[in-house]
Amino acid sequence: MHGADYNPDQWLHDPEVLREDIRLMKLAKCNVMSVGIFAWSALEPEEGVFTFGWLDRLLDTFAENGIYAWLATPSGARPAWMSQRYPEVLRVRANRVRNLHGARHNHCYSSPVYREKTAVMNRKLAERYSQHPAVVGWHVSNEYGGECHCDYCQEAFRGWLKNKYGSLDALNLAWWTSFWSHTYTDWAQVESPSPQGENAVHGLNLDWRRFVSDQTIDFCKAEIAPLRAVNPDLPVTANMMDLFDGLDYRQFAEILDVISWDAYPTWHEAASDREVAAWFAFDHDMFRSLKGRPFMLMESTPSQTNWQPVSKLKRPGMHRLSSLQAVAHGSDTVQYFQWRKSRGSSEKFHGAVVDHAGHEHTRVFRDVAGLGETLSKLTEVLGTGVKAETAILFDWDNRWAVKDAQGPRNKDIGYERTVMQHYRAFWDMGVPVDVIGAAGDFGGYKLIVAPMVYLLREETGRRLERFVEGGGTLVVTYWSGVVDENDLCHLGGFPGPLRKTLGIWAEEIDGLHDHDRNGIALLEGNALGLGGSYEARELCELIHTEGAETLAVYEDDFYAGRPALTVNRFGHGKAYYLAARTDEPFYGAFYGRLAAEAGIRRALDTELPAGVTAQVRTDGERDYVFVLNFSGAAQRIELDGCAYTDVESGEPVSGELALDMHGVRILKRAARG
Ligand code: GLA
Ligand code: ZN
Repeated sequence: MHGADYNPDQWLHDPEVLREDIRLMKLAKCNVMSVGIFAWSALEPEEGVFTFGWLDRLLDTFAENGIYAWLATPSGARPAWMSQRYPEVLRVRANRVRNLHGARHNHCYSSPVYREKTAVMNRKLAERYSQHPAVVGWHVSNEYGGECHCDYCQEAFRGWLKNKYGSLDALNLAWWTSFWSHTYTDWAQVESPSPQGENAVHGLNLDWRRFVSDQTIDFCKAEIAPLRAVNPDLPVTANMMDLFDGLDYRQFAEILDVISWDAYPTWHEAASDREVAAWFAFDHDMFRSLKGRPFMLMESTPSQTNWQPVSKLKRPGMHRLSSLQAVAHGSDTVQYFQWRKSRGSSEKFHGAVVDHAGHEHTRVFRDVAGLGETLSKLTEVLGTGVKAETAILFDWDNRWAVKDAQGPRNKDIGYERTVMQHYRAFWDMGVPVDVIGAAGDFGGYKLIVAPMVYLLREETGRRLERFVEGGGTLVVTYWSGVVDENDLCHLGGFPGPLRKTLGIWAEEIDGLHDHDRNGIALLEGNALGLGGSYEARELCELIHTEGAETLAVYEDDFYAGRPALTVNRFGHGKAYYLAARTDEPFYGAFYGRLAAEAGIRRALDTELPAGVTAQVRTDGERDYVFVLNFSGAAQRIELDGCAYTDVESGEPVSGELALDMHGVRILKRAARG
């Protein structure tokens, strides 16, 4: 599928636009459009008055022209009449002030009126269109997110807490409310966190985030129910966002049929796009891992955005590279925001396939059509998967808790940044990675990397222990195993549930200033065979070995000579502990060794220049290897011994593979098994 968000509802006064759009869609080799995303006013201009005629005509025209639609439910924005008549649909902020009508994504997920209005609308859409030949699925709402502190939401939060804790005594203990005399004696005293009220109870903050996530998912479920009731076979998706932390996407994924997300990389910030590319590669891997199945790139810009600090144009080749990067990591679609630039309002300068000029003779249009041509040759790749032997742990409740901790480095605990650094070492090597949660299945992996698992449940500790016992390699870093699921510190020594598996005790953690440096010196003859020394920054833990072997020690300060990197042989596996934050040279060398030791395969058995990666999709018989050049210069790589065919040209390839600047090559080989 190749296409875009399409808003014909902005052009109803000018029917010529739709006719022209159909001609242009075919020229651009686009075969799918997401329609109706913010079309509530066009569908229900007055309460109870529905105007589906324009959508009937649109979908019929699509069907006649071989264009498909992801049909949206319009709840991402509501008509003015609704806010005017029912102010309860509008969000109340943490400061307890209700928003005015306006913008979008500004609705209460608990409001009975909003739930009823969306249910009525969605049922009507489903009854009218869910058997329509052009409609291939539901695009539910748009980029769910945000929170509301209205009375309905407070009541729902209390209900959620009663259900979770059963009694106020249990809640008080879990939240450690005896601190500062915050003990609750009546459920009515419990309120959401607020800047001018309660914000110092970490357990409350954490549960509030869990509740917001659950309530949003519950709202989405209510949106989906009438759709599935009419036609259970039509797949449902909801577009997700880059590293969004307001919603637990792993739980959200459970109620959706297909994962889709909106990617807006800031290309060309630096001479090499390596860092941005690895960041988005992580996202793609994370979204694929949510279901372990191909996903959809629901939005991306055909040229530039208009909301980033600087709107840099994609350089020639980058549109193709950026789009195929998503495919390489498991996307089965390339879709854009937006098909046609709006004439007015806040997104009129956002990139689009069709510009204000209104014709196909633009650089961007040619790029899009060129990509459409490439995608038409990739049909055989559709549905293929990614088989990763390495997994990185990444959990929403850990993100929430570690950032709320008030601990060793409040200026920036750097959680996501750290996860990215660990990930990038694998991206550099062209090693496929899954991004999984603590509750995930560890069974199929050889290596699991757990950076800063600050919030660690006893149960996760036991499962990771069994993973190592069974022969797996585990890497855990500083500031792990610190609190339990209630954000209460593990007593008896960190890293709590993993102390035995790792064979260490973390006694203290040192927060360093930006200009402070320590060093990590590898010991002579260490078991990993690594040498030299590396910089330690920002966070240095002071640990004791309790059975683990020391591989490297600190170089400076009063803890010079104490362990900075350890390994514990446990059962049939190994558990490494990295006590300090360090930089890429270390991660590259360290994970290079670990991958070799654990027998982890790269997409290509060859050295890749900095900024070039290889990713592989497979159906078990054929491997599709995507070689992606983000280095900012032309490159050549030496292929390994397998027999390759270039998927686009059908020609055999061997020996040296040439990559243009921003180039990408798609190669096919027999699966390596
Ligand atoms: C988001 C939204 C779109 C649009 C784009 C602009 O992804 O879903 O409606 O606003 O951003 O980049
Ligand atoms: Zn509310």
